Amino acid sequence: MHDTIEKLLAPTKGILAADSINGIVKRFLNVGLTFTPELDLEYKKMLYATPGIEQFISGTILNDNNIREDIVISNEIVKGIKVDAGLAPFGEGGEEATKGLEGLESRLKEYIGMGAKFAKWRGVVKISDIFPTDAFLNENLDRMIKYAKLCQENGLVPIVEPEILLEGNHTTTRCEQIETKVLQLLFEKLKSGGVNLSNLILKTSMVLPGRESGVKAAPLEVANATLRALKNSVPPEVPGIVFLSGGQTPDEATSNLNEIVKLKADAPWQISFSYERALQNELMEKWAGKVENIEAARAVFLQRLNTVSQARQGKL
Ligand code: 13P
Repeated sequence: MHDTIEKLLAPTKGILAADSINGIVKRFLNVGLTFTPELDLEYKKMLYATPGIEQFISGTILNDNNIREDIVISNEIVKGIKVDAGLAPFGEGGEEATKGLEGLESRLKEYIGMGAKFAKWRGVVKISDIFPTDAFLNENLDRMIKYAKLCQENGLVPIVEPEILLEGNHTTTRCEQIETKVLQLLFEKLKSGGVNLSNLILKTSMVLPGRESGVKAAPLEVANATLRALKNSVPPEVPGIVFLSGGQTPDEATSNLNEIVKLKADAPWQISFSYERALQNELMEKWAGKVENIEAARAVFLQRLNTVSQARQGKL
């Protein structure tokens, strides 16, 4: 597990997330394409065969369909797998908890046989005047802890991913409060649940004002609020924190990461990225399902990877 973590957190690289089915369905629709498994496979083959991506990508998160398919991925890229089974309503109020514990251990063993070295479990937290409720947080994080423990027992590095959703009209301050509260509770539970904090990676969201608030925070404000939340909640034994892009534009996700890394000073963890949309939106728009666009699409993809890799080093 140590070796995998070291590879994933290589200083100039980050993780390419490519596991979201809902996400790819939407990205196809945005460029006028209808999702089919065949088109998804064609797209993923194009994506992973982009020459030179291993300079910027340390690992990639696949889903249950793609890991079973014949997609060539460079040996230099560590393979990971999303193992949660999505969201289901929790209570009556509109919160959604992550499911997927049933049969998890046998699936983990199967994925290890397919070459997976790490796994991912995503829990989402919605912010409103009344959300998140304590009952929801307790249940949803308890499930995440069970997943993390099972991964470590089987030799897979768990990525624990609590995502504070961008949707909502909350302020940056409220987002920071919730991010801090969620991460504090998560690490309390990981510790008391016997999960080894040195053998996991935290994937989480940056602290941002809600999308419907009408406010856009400058990178300096995002970086300060995000680093405060992390310093107040993430123990120093945790080797790395990788951000999701969470609906930010590729440029926003890049500049905000750059500012966070620039300001991280003596923060004890590696800070990197594990973006899906912010790495793939531009590529998808250029490609739009046409063979003749592949070269131009890959050029756009490499350009974005290069810029995000610079941001991961705080060099922009
Ligand atoms: P985004 O970067 O698009 O938020 O995705 C991250 C992720 O983990 C997808 O499942």
